Amino acid sequence: MRIGILTGGGDVPGLNPAIQQVTREACARGWQVVGIRNGWAGLLGINPDDDTANAQHLMPLDRHTTRGIDRFGGTILHTARLHPDTVREADMPAFLEPQATYDDRRWADMTPHILRVIDHLKLDALVPIGGDGTLGYAARLGEEGVPVLAIPKTMDNDVQGTDVCIGFPTAITRSIRAVHELRGTASAEASIGVIELMGRHSGETALLAGYLGSADRTAIAEVPVDVERLAALLTQDLRAGGEAGAVMVISEGATLEGAQASADDPVRTDKFGNKRLGGVGDTLARDLTQRLGVPAFSLQLAYLMRAGAPVSQDSLIARAFGTLAVELIAAGNTGRMVGLQNGKYTSVPIARTGEGASQVDVERYYETATFMPRITRPGMGQSLSF
Ligand code: F6P
Repeated sequence: MRIGILTGGGDVPGLNPAIQQVTREACARGWQVVGIRNGWAGLLGINPDDDTANAQHLMPLDRHTTRGIDRFGGTILHTARLHPDTVREADMPAFLEPQATYDDRRWADMTPHILRVIDHLKLDALVPIGGDGTLGYAARLGEEGVPVLAIPKTMDNDVQGTDVCIGFPTAITRSIRAVHELRGTASAEASIGVIELMGRHSGETALLAGYLGSADRTAIAEVPVDVERLAALLTQDLRAGGEAGAVMVISEGATLEGAQASADDPVRTDKFGNKRLGGVGDTLARDLTQRLGVPAFSLQLAYLMRAGAPVSQDSLIARAFGTLAVELIAAGNTGRMVGLQNGKYTSVPIARTGEGASQVDVERYYETATFMPRITRPGMGQSLSF
């Protein structure tokens, strides 16, 4: 048996322990493991007709080459956000260009090439580790007959079919720390600290970090923020108890109602034309300062949420997911994604990842009137409160 493994999308702490675990479990069964560098871009770059330059896209993995990697964040295999069913002309390897057929946006579906490469590498199964985008393409390969066994990772925790993804626990831990630490600054200056958290259009990072970090208010991506009402509540918070100052968290994907946008607020897009989020905290802090006459500052925690070594819970789920993935491949039970539901490790058909990103169930878990999480016994994802 020979399996391939790749990591796609943004890097998160926990990817290296997952790579290590899959490798250890596979090697213990006498299998070969081939790491594919740079996610799907690595497979795209392999030339089945000429092996001369193919080694740069591959990393043979075994117990020795993966020793110690679990201590570090990032991914030894590196990663890319490219999806082989929508490859831009600019990302096409030179040896492929003459064969490519582009649509009117000059993007091409390179799946036939990917299938040839998987065949050329003699892979009996493929283990893609990623979020929505990576797993969406994994599902496509599953439909094409490739035995895939996916592992969910994203700090946003918005993959359907699992309560927790690799990277989310570390993101929450880093965010709670920021809330606690910035409280001192907010208190010292009797000011309002606004901490903006990544999570795209899911408010789960903000909701759970706000709850566990005891932020005074939490604004999530799913609920437009009535700035006037929020300002009134923060005014009360500033005077509450013995502590001066207030700290709130806000999802990067939140929208503000009634805030003054500034001409400096740029609309940024990535190279695929997707709107880049980030900056809502700055706009809010500026508005609060003007509106309330108290100092407000903002901090984008951004990539620090997914940087550095994994916290224990990320190492733990990465290992459990890795073991389960290899067990399922050994049993011939592919076309699935491993996951954790209601405290139990399990797997779901990989097609579930096509249901789109999950979002916070606002009715159940959020108090819109007070900008407060409504959580009693905290869980994660679809089991946010047991
Ligand atoms: O690169 C920024 C960003 O897309 C954020 O908007 C988002 O919260 C995060 O990265 C997603 O990361 P991941 O790749 O773990 O899903």
